[in-house]
Amino acid sequence: MKISVIGCGYLGAVHAASMAELGHQVLGIDVDEAKVASLQRGVAPFHEPGFDDLLVKNAQRLYFTTDMAAAADAKVHFIAVGTPQSADGSADMTYVNAAIEGLIPYLSPGDLVVGKSTVPVGTAQRLSESVVSSGAILMWNPEFLREGFAVEDTLSPDRLVYGLPEGESGDAALAILDSVYELILAKQTPRLVMNFATAELVKVAANSFLATKISFINAMAEIAEVTGANVTELADAIGHDSRIGRRFLNAGIGFGGGCLPKDIRGFVARAEELGVGQSLDFLRSVDAINLRRRARVVDVVIEELGALAGKKIAVWGLAFKPDSDDIRDSPALDIVENLARAGARVIAADPQASGPARKRIEHAGLASSVTLTDDHHESARGVDAIVVATEWNVFCEEDPTAIAPLVSNKLVIDGRNTLDSKAWKAAGFTYRGMGRS
Ligand code: UDX
Repeated sequence: MKISVIGCGYLGAVHAASMAELGHQVLGIDVDEAKVASLQRGVAPFHEPGFDDLLVKNAQRLYFTTDMAAAADAKVHFIAVGTPQSADGSADMTYVNAAIEGLIPYLSPGDLVVGKSTVPVGTAQRLSESVVSSGAILMWNPEFLREGFAVEDTLSPDRLVYGLPEGESGDAALAILDSVYELILAKQTPRLVMNFATAELVKVAANSFLATKISFINAMAEIAEVTGANVTELADAIGHDSRIGRRFLNAGIGFGGGCLPKDIRGFVARAEELGVGQSLDFLRSVDAINLRRRARVVDVVIEELGALAGKKIAVWGLAFKPDSDDIRDSPALDIVENLARAGARVIAADPQASGPARKRIEHAGLASSVTLTDDHHESARGVDAIVVATEWNVFCEEDPTAIAPLVSNKLVIDGRNTLDSKAWKAAGFTYRGMGRS
């Protein structure tokens, strides 16, 4: 099958390469010339495990361009552009609208346009009119991939969701997408068929649930902090109840990234527009709890060290999660900035994200008080405290006896509750976790 993928960010580029891996002839289209040039050379423009290999392995079936006219060759067109957060919290639909408008002149009757972007409920219905007027069919097929596992999640998803129009065109869309995903469906992957609105809601509902789970355990961490309880033991104990489950109950500095924070805010904004804002009032609390955790870490450092002016602090982690160089809405980067604003000299280390973080630190006017490096050992030299903000394996597995001689004060603040506290204490460190006495 000939496929076009419009938008080659984290979602689109991985989707394009994965469709080629399934044996399709794929054309990736993006307005960013540098990104297209890099993908065309087989070099990933971002860090995503396994993605480079996929690009190289499928080079014969993959082509990247900035020219939308090339989409005329394809029968199936995936829309995978971003829907960033607008100033008022709603999802900015500029790129989705532009992608559909740009694509329409190149559609042929019988083509299938498949929306993958996360959009406000009601979008597919609105867009389908113009797609249908060109003889093509629109459907919505939300993506649930996690960064760091994007390739695996695309090729072996835990479910496929098809949002279809009613009637014959819905049947035709289903048959076409089934043949695109034939190899995935052959692995008994559940395929759930529903209408447009339900499919759009599935995505934001899933992300809202995950965000709520994280903020729930972080709220428990706040209670634990004033009662002497231990939130990790609490999470282990409630997680044994299979109705609750242990996953996404890791308390710490909260969630970030390009999806959870903006998706819950966009969902709240959409519910307001629909006159049912009250239904999602709880998501405002989820957001507020999450942001409080970023401030809490800085408070813990101040509790231990007093005023931060003249203090030197290493922050381990800049990316919003390990195995990613993505710094969008990263709690780690916020903490770096807040420590620097409180007067500290910060040396921040991340195996992949120090490059991407540099621009933001400069833009924030903090270049003179924040040093960025890939090397966490180097960052620890002469510091008054180490703050662990992203749970990269190299940090979790670090031998504290190798770090002890480097620092000038043995204090470690485990923002992700990920270190072996006993080993750090045995090496002479004062250990502070989040929500743990
Ligand atoms: C998320 C969804 O998981 C994915 O299904 C959707 O398609 C896109 O958004 P992603 O943004 O890649 O994926 O990250 P995820 O693994 O969900 O983590 C989000 C954030 O939550 C990270 O900052 C992570 O550190 C944090 N987190 C996660 C916690 O603080 N505690 C946890 O227990 C789990």
